[in-house]
Amino acid sequence: MSTPKKKKNEHAYSKDVPMITKATAPAKAILLGEHFVVYGTGAILCAVQKYTSVSVEARSTGVRVSSRYGCDEFASGDDPKNASRHHRPILQIANDLGRGADVTIDSEIPPGVGLGSSSACCVAGAGAMLNQNGQDVEDLALRAEKSVFDGVSGADTAACLRGGLIEFGARGARSFEHAGVSLVVALTGREHSTAETVAAVRQNKERDEDAFGAVCEQVGGLIGDARSALDASDLVSLGAHMSQNQKFLTDIGVSDPTIDRIVAAAQRTSYGAKLTGAGAGGCVIALVDDSNAAKTLGSVEDAGATAFRVETDCDGLRIS
Ligand code: PMV
Repeated sequence: MSTPKKKKNEHAYSKDVPMITKATAPAKAILLGEHFVVYGTGAILCAVQKYTSVSVEARSTGVRVSSRYGCDEFASGDDPKNASRHHRPILQIANDLGRGADVTIDSEIPPGVGLGSSSACCVAGAGAMLNQNGQDVEDLALRAEKSVFDGVSGADTAACLRGGLIEFGARGARSFEHAGVSLVVALTGREHSTAETVAAVRQNKERDEDAFGAVCEQVGGLIGDARSALDASDLVSLGAHMSQNQKFLTDIGVSDPTIDRIVAAAQRTSYGAKLTGAGAGGCVIALVDDSNAAKTLGSVEDAGATAFRVETDCDGLRIS
């Protein structure tokens, strides 16, 4: 007897998904390597304790998405390009799975500042729709992220999914044993566009491939040294490498005067500081512990930032 052929978009697991599922994913900060990771140089990332939850109620047809950006209703199979960039990934996920769904997104992650609000939403959305964790979720979440901007490296998705500290590179993601770091996050007050910043860096690279290649090589060395610093729990060395990374980010044009001012203030009191994520606005992170966190919060606030302290999330995606 011949096996019946699977219809397009029919996933074996879709039959096992209960009526309502909820998944929660953490924000992330890039400790070293943003932008250069797009060109295959590694990056070190940390999931942090700010969260996005996505609840999914099964529907026979149509996709409804509700979030801090309002509520949108789509017919099943609608082109995700017609959805706002905030709701497009969810429609992409539902279409990929051939599912109808009523989706509610709750997020405490500040949007557009480099803390991975979009990646956390994609990971939680994919986790809730599949009601599982693992490689299928990562693939689905990354496709969803690419529906907004095709040029992402996948590093953010990997960090939000796995939690903890990870190194992301050409061969994928590897988790560190390290229990986690503590960061002061300082918001510049200006949202950024990852797509625009990545495009500007590409232009910079194309203007002088040799110079860009040389910086990539140095960042690669920095990441190797930072890996050893993390393995040895050496905050002084890790922080110094983060501050050095800021110089390279300035060289490729993704810092700005506000970031420079906040970074300079943070570097005076913390182990090290830099912009995180795409830059050109967004936020700065400073590596701290109990000995210097309060002072660093004070110094970045004096420099005009809104700031908070955040710890490493060790769990990554949680399904409930
Ligand atoms: O600012 P975010 O959270 O979108 O982070 C972007 C990080 C980049 O390295 C600039 C792009 C990427 O996909 O790795």
